[in-house]
Amino acid sequence: MTIGPEITAYYGTVIHSTSPAGLRILDNTLLIISHVTGNIDHLIPGLQPDRLSSTLASLHHSNITINRLSAAQFIIPGFIDTHNHAPQWLTRGLGQGMHILDWLREVTFPAEARYADEEHARLSHKLLVKGMLRQGVTTASYYSSLHGPATRILADTCLSMGQRALVGKCNMNRGSPGNYIDASTEQSMKVTHECIDHIRTIDPEASFVRPVLTPRFAISCTPDLLTQLGALAAKEPTIPIQTHFNEAQQEIDATLSLFPSHKDEVSLYSSFGLLNDRSILAHCTIMKSEETQRLAELGCGIAHCPTANMTVGGGFMAAPVRDFLNRGMKVGLGTDSGGGYSSSMLNAMRHALIASFAREANHGDSSMKGLSIDEAFWMATLGGAKVVGLGDSIGNFAVGKQFDAVLVDMDSGLGGVNAPFQGFDSPRTLFEKFILTGDDRNMLKVFVNGRLVHSQS
Ligand code: GUN
Ligand code: FE
Repeated sequence: MTIGPEITAYYGTVIHSTSPAGLRILDNTLLIISHVTGNIDHLIPGLQPDRLSSTLASLHHSNITINRLSAAQFIIPGFIDTHNHAPQWLTRGLGQGMHILDWLREVTFPAEARYADEEHARLSHKLLVKGMLRQGVTTASYYSSLHGPATRILADTCLSMGQRALVGKCNMNRGSPGNYIDASTEQSMKVTHECIDHIRTIDPEASFVRPVLTPRFAISCTPDLLTQLGALAAKEPTIPIQTHFNEAQQEIDATLSLFPSHKDEVSLYSSFGLLNDRSILAHCTIMKSEETQRLAELGCGIAHCPTANMTVGGGFMAAPVRDFLNRGMKVGLGTDSGGGYSSSMLNAMRHALIASFAREANHGDSSMKGLSIDEAFWMATLGGAKVVGLGDSIGNFAVGKQFDAVLVDMDSGLGGVNAPFQGFDSPRTLFEKFILTGDDRNMLKVFVNGRLVHSQS
């Protein structure tokens, strides 16, 4: 039974992207959302206040209450975290500066092994999803631990708390300690199938939660396991694939010594059928030009993780994001929380900017020009939606898309912004202040599919 009005209307400033450099700041905008479908029914910018009631009448919505935004408020699409490790929520930020294989062995595998305990998983995953929603992350692509029960709990938690998510059981049958390793290829695939079946049972329409194949990286998977995952990817053309890719020199060297017949990671992963337009490749920090070209041809998406790239794992450098954008590739942002110490997509945007400026300065070539705020915002929203395969349904406020959104308040009285609203600030100024100095205290309300999933009050 539907209680209350079937639609909600907002009137004020709406900000979204239509292309990497195409930021649209829409003033005096009427936004109408259906609660039956969760979809955006109307987006009408530039509507003077004296034309509001006649416009509503013409839409047969005369009797509805309009939520009018203040001059310090605006609505943006929810953020999409294209790369997040759920079982690293409690160890975010540990081991800064460590190289990847040392960090996995000393910090991460022991922490993830604890998710064999279902109670621990239940508690931690609830904190994770709550924490991500509070920060405006309406969609996340999660690596779970290798455990079936913890992975199912993660999917259940996203669904019950209303977060859109891709959830993958982590495949890893070699190179980790005996208490945290898939016992065999067969066991790894069996649990993968069970998790896919579970996710399809709890959300048959894939409205919120979807499975994702998650070979951790080639160092963690035997050729046999990668072969079977590639075969499953071919058999299941709607399931995306996520893995770590060309993250750091130590990782690349170790990978190629395990797979000596391959000259690079593109050759390796593509030989197992794991590179296509559903692939979500985290990092892509150290790229040969021909590798990038091949990924572009294959339609792979990039999960750019600037925080982790600069602080953990051994890449310690800025990825060639300008090159990805110049080639028209899908690029999203990932917090890579916990290797990335911050789970904030605002921080991911800031770090993407900083990393790109450093890359431009070091490269001395305009083909590596630093990113703009507009581009960072596209990556955090529409670019990310494309990377996770949801570019047609979320990422901006095109009519017919689902309403995943954050109501930002730059004068909420809750603090949270170093540069709060001044009466004379333009929407563009407010937007830039939010991206560079705001935090979750400026996120008054968060919606997924038209449903309120977090509120400050
Ligand atoms: N490579 C394999 N596993 C991981 C992980 O958990 N984090 C990062 N940053 N890189 C990885
Ligand atoms: Fe990662």
